[in-house]
Amino acid sequence: MHTILLGAQWGDEGKGKLVDHLSSKSDYVIRFQGGNNAGHSLWVGGKKTVLHLIPSGILHPHTTCVIGEGVVLDPLVLRSEIHKLMDAGALADAKDRIRVSERTHLLLPLHRALDQERERKRAGTRGYIGTTGRGIGPCYETKARRTGIRCIDLVGLDAVSFAALMERLHESYREELGSDRNQELMGEAMGFLPEIRNFLAPLLIDTLEFMKAGKAQGKRFLFEGAQGVMLDLDHGTYPYVTSSHTTSPAAGIGAAFPSLTRDAKVIGCAKAYLTRVGAGDFVTELRGRWSAEELLIAEEIRAAGGEFGATTGRPRRIGWQDLVALKYAVEVAGMDALAIMKGDVLSSGLHSLKGSIRVCVAYREKGGRILNHFPALESTFSEIEPVYEEIPLWKSARSTDPAYKRYLSLIEAFTGVPVLFSGHGPEREQIEIV
Ligand code: IMP
Repeated sequence: MHTILLGAQWGDEGKGKLVDHLSSKSDYVIRFQGGNNAGHSLWVGGKKTVLHLIPSGILHPHTTCVIGEGVVLDPLVLRSEIHKLMDAGALADAKDRIRVSERTHLLLPLHRALDQERERKRAGTRGYIGTTGRGIGPCYETKARRTGIRCIDLVGLDAVSFAALMERLHESYREELGSDRNQELMGEAMGFLPEIRNFLAPLLIDTLEFMKAGKAQGKRFLFEGAQGVMLDLDHGTYPYVTSSHTTSPAAGIGAAFPSLTRDAKVIGCAKAYLTRVGAGDFVTELRGRWSAEELLIAEEIRAAGGEFGATTGRPRRIGWQDLVALKYAVEVAGMDALAIMKGDVLSSGLHSLKGSIRVCVAYREKGGRILNHFPALESTFSEIEPVYEEIPLWKSARSTDPAYKRYLSLIEAFTGVPVLFSGHGPEREQIEIV
């Protein structure tokens, strides 16, 4: 059986831990979208290591990790992650266990500069997205403009043809960045790319052929999603989204073997509460809008849950579980089951929680009308009110605790899919098969 694992909220749901668990039963672990905007904190050789591009499944020595063509690849980040893993003794030789699609687009200094420059200009306006600044949006932009550069271009073209592609790519941003800056960015890339060419060449694969061969040998595939459904380019809270597709069909596009992903089981990962980084409202955010004690609750949950971005270190915004949004995510992403993580954070003795928590079960519009579906218009989120159900807080986030079981049953009844996994602590083994 093959699995697609997705984030069911705005990212940071604790997918890394679940990937680690599911990888023990998988042979190939595949990234199919996003780039180094993602981040998983892992303990490698007794040291905390954050991986942004390499799937977390790398920690299981029997796995092969694939970076599919739906990913945007910063080659410097990949190289540095490989070195970190090798230094920690977690990887002997990248060629044995890491593969990159020939068709994957390269994320270059130009993309990073565009991302950061645009965000700087938009700061303080509604146009500010709060991106991770890693160049992800601009790299997908050049891919869609058909001026992007793929791994195979770097490895397969002669020097003159490759330089012409680089020239074409940079030329289209000359006006936006200015001639000098543009030349500087191109020079920077041209400086390190020859070395990257040698480093990437042995890792490249034709994903379709590679996966077909794996399927013929009976290999088990795990597709590891990054970010979350609510950040999906089409289905998320546009424009405050990432630039890739984070739903299950994206696995069939971003890793070239759709007949395999059609049969896969789709698991959505959600936290017992909500977090979000970057701009964009969410209805259940605890930001002191409805009562002053909200801020205290948010602060306690953030501290207890270590809710700071693994990529940027930004404090995550905190809110109550939103079942309307979760049901939407389940349906729009085609999830078969859910995993609920970090329930233990809420039951870790937070003073501000007085024996109960809240769960949003509907929205109320300004005029009082009840809304039972997730709205498309982004400005709605700051206007509608959450309708909460108050439920007793559990003592332990285990399905044997009646209050926790009741919470999981509420999620199942509301979303229409079963909860299959539940996380109850940061350690590798603190995951329950419900
Ligand atoms: P970008 O993907 O860097 O362009 O950022 C776009 C939006 O997605 C911003 O709100 C980011 O904070 C958010 N985002 C991107 N990657 C992640 C992630 O891995 N976890 C949570 N939020 C993310």
